Amino acid sequence: MEDTLTLQWVEKQGPSESNNGPRGMGIHMRDRLALQLVGRHWLSEPDSPKEAFQLSFEHISGENFDYQCGDSLAVWPENPPEEVERILAHFAMEGQQKIDGIALSDWLRNQRCIAHLSDAFLESVRGQLGGEELEKFAAHGEAFGTASLCDVIDLFPSLKFRAETLLPLLKKMQPRLYSIASAVSLQPKRLDLAIVVVKYKNFRNRDRYGVASHYLCHRLPLYKQTATFIAHSRFKLPQDISRDVIMVGPGTGIAPFRSFLQERAALRKAGKSVGENWLFFGEQHRASNFYYADELAHWQASGNLIHLDLAFSRDQEYKIYVQDRMRERGQELWKWLDRGAYFYVCGDAAHMAKDVEIALLDIIHQWGAMDAPLDFLKQLKKENRYQRDVY
Ligand SMILES: Cc1cc2nc3c(=O)[nH]c(=O)nc-3n(C[C@H](O)[C@H](O)[C@H](O)COP(=O)(O)OP(=O)(O)OC[C@H]3O[C@@H](n4cnc5c(N)ncnc54)[C@H](O)[C@@H]3O)c2cc1C
Ligand SMILES: NC(=O)c1ccc[n+]([C@@H]2O[C@H](COP(=O)([O-])OP(=O)(O)OC[C@H]3O[C@@H](n4cnc5c(N)ncnc54)[C@H](OP(=O)(O)O)[C@@H]3O)[C@@H](O)[C@H]2O)c1
Repeated sequence: MEDTLTLQWVEKQGPSESNNGPRGMGIHMRDRLALQLVGRHWLSEPDSPKEAFQLSFEHISGENFDYQCGDSLAVWPENPPEEVERILAHFAMEGQQKIDGIALSDWLRNQRCIAHLSDAFLESVRGQLGGEELEKFAAHGEAFGTASLCDVIDLFPSLKFRAETLLPLLKKMQPRLYSIASAVSLQPKRLDLAIVVVKYKNFRNRDRYGVASHYLCHRLPLYKQTATFIAHSRFKLPQDISRDVIMVGPGTGIAPFRSFLQERAALRKAGKSVGENWLFFGEQHRASNFYYADELAHWQASGNLIHLDLAFSRDQEYKIYVQDRMRERGQELWKWLDRGAYFYVCGDAAHMAKDVEIALLDIIHQWGAMDAPLDFLKQLKKENRYQRDVY
């Protein structure tokens, strides 16, 4: 029953959501896929404060299971049932009440975001408060940026909403994207994801999980279906498979590169003349966060991975990042670029991707003896030889 509802909901969201999907992508009914979770394995060591998992999904239904290396899977998460129950109980709402033909408990489960609140909702809360509660609201100010609906209920027990008023004030649940970490040529009916659980402290210093990473890594039961679609990307391996490939993927940024390496290993095994592969990977600790260490060692031994440069940032007193390894290997890296290699970056957009680009420009300047390294980088981009999938 639940699975059917999820799919009905995806259909309902369908084309009308086209401007609300991640990066404004259009979502069409024909794109929806039912995937079943068939495996969840630790990528980090279980005692690591940073939890990372590999999730494997099997294709159940839907036509568009036609992903390529570099594409992502979009997943609609579900809110924790205990929070949904709490909201229903607080506002004395009936979960079975139908609104626009959908049960209120389903609206709150997977169609509305209850973890991150809209300005319109907060404004409506403020309008209901008076006296001490209003002062308390004003005192929290911008801290509400990390408040959930349940936090607000805790703080202001007098709050009242009718379902019809509440729902339009909540943000729509958005799908989250995850880079596909496997190659379809190897497992035509399955795909893998590599996901880190988002954890942070909210404004009351309470532990909080990210909605989708918590749902996928902690809550989604094995063999349960979930609503997804493939988000096609321009982040792609060179069409000319004889080209060399340099990949920079710290953290979960390694995900698409596992797919690239699987694909190129398969081509190599089939006797094709495949270019060389070089991976820069970084995480906090070698002992607990060296994702896919065995597979990478296997590919090194088989010649599918010529260079593997590692940057474990917290294994020494000072930080070592992937861009430090790039600089150390600048001369060789320039040689690869000069003979036509493709350069890929995946992972954190806020800091890592920017710092990697600076290091790349420095390397082009120093080892390529170029006064205008930016022009060279622009040319690389034009030729699709500098590609980034950063978030
Ligand atoms: C193309 C693409 C590919 C991606 N691939 C992957 C992948 O392979 N693996 C992967 O794990 N992720 C990947 N992501 C990220 C993923 O889509 C989600 O953004 C991520 O899992 C977080 O979603 P969530 O629902 O768990 O967190 P949300 O509930 O969306 O929470 C995230 C929010 O939490 C808040 N927050 C987070 N940290 C803090 C903090 N320290 N302090 C205060 N507030 C904080 C912020 O408001 C932030 O916006 C990718 C993203 C894109 C765009
Ligand atoms: N929207 C979200 O809430 C959300 C959720 C999940 C992931 N993300 C994004 O996805 C990224 C990937 O997350 P992740 O946990 O897989 O890995 P990550 O946070 O990027 O960490 C991977 C490695 O990169 C290091 N690093 C930190 N700053 C760096 C820099 N400026 N240059 C190079 N390396 C740097 C980290 O070191 P230290 O930790 O020791 O500094 C760690 O060793 C996140 O950083 C975040 O931007 C966003």
